[in-house]
Amino acid sequence: MFDKNSDKRFEFGKNWQQFLNNLTNEQINEAEKSLQDWLGTNTLEGKKFLDIGSGSGLFSLAARNMGANVFSFDYDENSVNCTRYLKNMFYKNDENWQIERGDALDYDYLSGLGKFDVVYSWGVLHHTGNMYQALNNANNMVDENGILFISIYNDQGQASKIWKKIKKTYNDCPKALRGFVLYPCFLRLWGPTTIKDLLKGKPFNTWKNYIKQRGMSPKYDVIDWVGGYPFEVAKPEDIFDFFHNKGYLLEKLYTAGGGHGCNQYVFKKAGFIV
Ligand SMILES: C[S@@+](CC[C@H](N)C(=O)[O-])C[C@H]1O[C@@H](n2cnc3c(N)ncnc32)[C@H](O)[C@@H]1O
Repeated sequence: MFDKNSDKRFEFGKNWQQFLNNLTNEQINEAEKSLQDWLGTNTLEGKKFLDIGSGSGLFSLAARNMGANVFSFDYDENSVNCTRYLKNMFYKNDENWQIERGDALDYDYLSGLGKFDVVYSWGVLHHTGNMYQALNNANNMVDENGILFISIYNDQGQASKIWKKIKKTYNDCPKALRGFVLYPCFLRLWGPTTIKDLLKGKPFNTWKNYIKQRGMSPKYDVIDWVGGYPFEVAKPEDIFDFFHNKGYLLEKLYTAGGGHGCNQYVFKKAGFIV
């Protein structure tokens, strides 16, 4: 169990700052496209959108571009600043996008925010140190008939336990030594794919097209993956059962297929259990 007083957490916000330094319009478009595809709509006009763990702020921006009234918060001060930076760039002085520092585990803080039509928390709740409490809190934020769009790391059994140790080691290491953890992981994560691309006569094809995955960057995603701690995982059926028992219907699912990525879920709060 993560001890918030003694265990070191990954500085997500610093990584997001680097990511934003190289952000392109194409990435913004890809982020918006992914949100539209997953939510099955091009517009969120008049909808209340909560971004729990907004990170770079890219998906808050995408939701605002789709017309939503957005509330973003993140635990990491630098992530909050990243989200503010994007807002200042595209929606300066806009009252329909609010940003704060907040904790997904803080029930009292969340209770004061009200309910939302769309609650989005992609790649966040497994990094809080208490995933099931965070999942429960996210549930409380969803209005009747509202949508909950989350992604949670896939439980790979023994492999997940090994990754957890690697992540803890990375964060416990002095900064100057972190490369000794990062680079071998980088080779493990990208070596096989790079070789496959070469053999297919399409060198670096996957790397070059990575941007099509939510507008993300392969480089900063590797750092996020290796460093991302605290770290918890869940099997797709565990997350399904958790929300099914709370009266949600599963609308859309993508699984990591046994791999190390995130399983993604769109749930609709139906208020009854089938
Ligand atoms: C992997 S990033 C995902 C960012 C963004 N949701 C996205 O899809 O790009 C995880 C984010 O969750 C934030 N986070 C971690 N624990 C949190 C908590 N208890 N409350 C709110 N945000 C948290 C981190 O600071 C980080 O910005």
